[in-house]
Amino acid sequence: MKKTDELYSGKAKTIYRTEDPNLLIMDFRDSLTAFDGEKRSEVPKKGYYNARISKKIFELLEENGIKTHYREMLSDHEMLVDAVQIILVEVIVRNIAAGSMTRKYPFEEGQVLNEPVIVMDYKDDSRHDPMLNEDIAVALGLATRAELAEIRRTALKINEILKAYLDERGLILPDFKLEFGRRNSEIVLGDEISCDTCRLWDKKTGDSLDKDVFRFDKGDLAAAYREVARRVVPEIFD
Ligand code: TMP
Repeated sequence: MKKTDELYSGKAKTIYRTEDPNLLIMDFRDSLTAFDGEKRSEVPKKGYYNARISKKIFELLEENGIKTHYREMLSDHEMLVDAVQIILVEVIVRNIAAGSMTRKYPFEEGQVLNEPVIVMDYKDDSRHDPMLNEDIAVALGLATRAELAEIRRTALKINEILKAYLDERGLILPDFKLEFGRRNSEIVLGDEISCDTCRLWDKKTGDSLDKDVFRFDKGDLAAAYREVARRVVPEIFD
């Protein structure tokens, strides 16, 4: 499958059209940003690690009955995906309080939540991704109530699968972000699941092995992502 033209270039990935209108190519770039694009950088191999980690996680989720947009890898950093109709909602699943959760609310960093907390934000950097409630999401025409309920159920199921999988690999999953789309009329998981979109803490040391290393200048981002790749996709180091 060949790229035809560029559809959209985001902060970390570029999306290309292909000869087939139902298929797109996601190119995972080495660029990364934080704080709605205010802080920017380039890290060699970041795109490669994230692409390979995402591939593995999409395959794991598909094996567990979750529908995703993933088709196949075309190269180390290019993923063939179904062209879905994007739902402009960022779905954040939290198991342990961290990040904006502790800035906005009186939770302690590292506080284990009694049950997972799901937050849905409107995906719009110019508005700093404001939090939605169901009525606002419906009023904006982002999704129906039935779709929002399905997204919530699916996000919780994904959380259980990921938590167990990462735990076996010595990684704690405090929180992560998902995006969904519509393929015909069904809801499918889109975007990526990677070190850019998850918080991942080393089970032994508690160290951040995710984009927080970049957000908060905690050290060597490439080393952190490589460590996650070593545990999640060891085969790429053979
Ligand atoms: P937050 O604590 O900054 O709200 O982030 C919650 C989770 O969502 C964390 O795992 C990082 C991820 N995330 C994204 O993937 N994209 C974003 O734009 C933001 C703000 C967070």
